Amino acid sequence: MQLSGPILAIESSCDDCAAAIVKEDGTILADVVDSQTRTHSPYGGIVPEHASRQHLASVATVVAKALSDAGISPSDLGAVAVTYGPGLVGSLLVGAQFARGFASAAGKTLIGIHHIEGHLFAGRAHPEFPREPFIGLVAAGGHTALYLCRDDAPITFLGETRDDAAGEAYDKVAKMLGYPYPGGHIIDQLAQRGDPKRFVFPIALKAWNTLEYSFSGLKTAFRIKLNEMREKEGELSEQTIADLCAGVQTAIVQALLDKAFLACRQTQVSHFVIGGGVACNSLLRSEALRRGPENDVRVFLTPKKHCTDNAAMIAQAALRRIALGRVLADDFAVRSTSEVDAPI
Ligand code: KG4
Ligand code: ZN
Repeated sequence: MQLSGPILAIESSCDDCAAAIVKEDGTILADVVDSQTRTHSPYGGIVPEHASRQHLASVATVVAKALSDAGISPSDLGAVAVTYGPGLVGSLLVGAQFARGFASAAGKTLIGIHHIEGHLFAGRAHPEFPREPFIGLVAAGGHTALYLCRDDAPITFLGETRDDAAGEAYDKVAKMLGYPYPGGHIIDQLAQRGDPKRFVFPIALKAWNTLEYSFSGLKTAFRIKLNEMREKEGELSEQTIADLCAGVQTAIVQALLDKAFLACRQTQVSHFVIGGGVACNSLLRSEALRRGPENDVRVFLTPKKHCTDNAAMIAQAALRRIALGRVLADDFAVRSTSEVDAPI
């Protein structure tokens, strides 16, 4: 497929309604995200019905804003890309049906993109983004998984969490401490003032030679320690809260990186890309950069702005597929679960 103009990308798989316009060379002309955090925050998690209704209310405005920010009209576009899955089906449907109607009215090709593929290639236009092959870690609220990305073969899934995602662990810890959803960034900030050695939390599957994660035991260990400290101290001191956050954060980050570097060793791949919302985490970023050279691995950190859900990443993944001649065009259905790079 030949592109004759920028891509309009739409992402609506979860609680962010996003649209972006990205040029053929990866330059971002518009990048709009309408976050639903305020809608879902009082419930302590995402309410699917609210999410799809809010996507319905905002998708047209978000796309119109992207076009106006880029200063282009629908006829200038080369193609339309949209997330087909995985995610909340109601939310995916809104974005996909809007994109289908828009592409058809504008006479443009519609390209389906896997959400995880978006996270993996979100930084693709950055000058330091590695050439494939690389190991990709996507650590987000709904997924925590490792992939081998190669441009001469489908993306290979290497392993994932057996239970909670890393972002989910962060959000649950934040909830136990009484902070609103999503709480990952709050734990990150509090942890920076804490002593990571005061409370040591377990790292599941540490000694196993598998590329799997597990975070649900950590959540239970945190709850037990929290209750114990509440019994001892009553109202917890600021220092104890910070120390608890530093302890849990250290365990999550170490788990994420141990398996990622193990994946690099097992596959003999020397480039590593981290993406997804948890890749905003300050300790994960600094530890990845510190441990990279020890492991003979070059680490690429997705720019923070494009770690959390956005539509520019969907456009970047579409550009890669166009460059590789592996485009999933026009005839596809939304999926709540689906393997990355699997034919649908
Ligand atoms: O990628 P994303 O926007 O949505 C999914 O695809 O899931 O990721 C959202 C997740 C939430 O769980 C949020 O708490 C977490 O990313 N997160 C963080 C940080 N910023 C966002 N977790 C740890 N530290 C952060 N700084
Ligand atoms: Zn995501």
